[in-house]
Amino acid sequence: MRLFPAFFQMDDAHIVIFGDGTNAERKTRLVAKTRARIFLVAHARPDWADAFGDQIQLVEPEHAAGALETARFTIIALEDEAEAHRAYDLARASGVPINAVDRKALCDFTIPSILDRGDVVAAVATGGAAPVLAKDIRSRLETLLPERIGTLAALAERWRPAVKEAISDETRRRHFWESTLRGAVAEAVHANNDELAETLMAEALARFAADLTGTETGPVHIVGAGPGDPELLTLKAFRLIQQADVVYHDKLVSAEIMDMVRRDAERVPVGKSKGEHLVPQDGIHELMIASAREGKRVVRLKGGDPFIFGRGGEEVEALREAGIEAHVVPGISSALGCAANANIPLTHRDHAQTLTFVTGHAQKGGVPDLDWAGLAKPHQTVVVFMGVGTSAIISEKLRKAGLSGDTPVAVIENGTRKSEKRGFGQLAKLPQIIEEHSIKGPALLIIGDVAGLPAEAQDRIIAEALA
Ligand SMILES: C[S@@+](CC[C@H](N)C(=O)[O-])C[C@H]1O[C@@H](n2cnc3c(N)ncnc32)[C@H](O)[C@@H]1O
Repeated sequence: MRLFPAFFQMDDAHIVIFGDGTNAERKTRLVAKTRARIFLVAHARPDWADAFGDQIQLVEPEHAAGALETARFTIIALEDEAEAHRAYDLARASGVPINAVDRKALCDFTIPSILDRGDVVAAVATGGAAPVLAKDIRSRLETLLPERIGTLAALAERWRPAVKEAISDETRRRHFWESTLRGAVAEAVHANNDELAETLMAEALARFAADLTGTETGPVHIVGAGPGDPELLTLKAFRLIQQADVVYHDKLVSAEIMDMVRRDAERVPVGKSKGEHLVPQDGIHELMIASAREGKRVVRLKGGDPFIFGRGGEEVEALREAGIEAHVVPGISSALGCAANANIPLTHRDHAQTLTFVTGHAQKGGVPDLDWAGLAKPHQTVVVFMGVGTSAIISEKLRKAGLSGDTPVAVIENGTRKSEKRGFGQLAKLPQIIEEHSIKGPALLIIGDVAGLPAEAQDRIIAEALA
């Protein structure tokens, strides 16, 4: 390690910045995010300094030595080489740590790429080797550190004295912080509900102080994992699966997403494929309830969105009946993921003003009793989930209800995954399209004029190329 990270305490600090140009302005803007007072060494107060009000004070260059005497550090942001070296000599004589913009050889320290979340600050440095890389890493950290993590840290700081007084044992105190900062209190803060977070904190402290721990029940998060591409996971889903103690997941959740689950978390497959239930629905409810009652952070991870043909509603009801808090985190439904990947706009001003999601699989097998006449009406898109096995009947019922056999259809299997397959054609040939492309599922059927648009666009491109 050639660089050693350390954070300066800035509340009572004063910082000396040399210069009045763009670099000085940038560094001033950064330092001004703290509570430090800034002494700007320049011949005249630049216009941009007004934005910082009283936080900034102008120092004539001949008085710079005095300002440096008590500075926590100094930044030399001078363009002129000779002036920069003069400032360096002055700062060196006073012994304050020096950063000189764009002059690595004169630096005692470098200024990293900073991620500011209030009381939580992350810094990334590459020793000047690749600042762009440092910025990219910071952007990735941004997605990992929830927006309100600083608020959570501030809440912990406020409660620290009360917790120390109420729980004298250090190990139990650590357990208290683990259970609150990774549990319901943290969730309330992330959900913007600071009032609830305070109440939960007070309740948790009372429980720990009365030695009633182990009796608390964790909330269960029913989380949508999206159609398969891990990049389509929401930030919230990502955070929750990284925090979970136990993850009950469906077959439809892709292996890449399961790889993101915390290493030491329990992963329990409970999913179904084509009606084949690994664990019956009631059994899934019981497992989730039992884990939540053990105080575990439980995630129920489901393909697509939990509330679209996902039985998420039943799971929420079962948890609430058992007195367990249930939160649902939406996911990108396979209907949206598949359509986007295949360039099929599900609604279109000219072609489809209505969009309907239906299941092609009845609870007792076969096709469900759908409003076929309604589904056969023009200017709409029908997306059929779980319809591969019943595609021939679906095609027939729609045609009998009046929909033309020429209506465009698309069949998309494993949408958004590496193994995605797409078949296009007409409604009358739906079963043949499925057979031709050896589609077994999971797959969606998209029926309506919009399903013909990608092919039309392709024809147009070919025609234009030939013209
Ligand atoms: C039980 S439903 C779950 C739907 C899920 N909740 C959603 O919002 O996508 C399962 C059906 O969703 C569809 N499905 C799920 N993931 C898919 C994918 N990646 N590609 C195509 N269809 C998919 C298939 O029709 C599959 O049979």
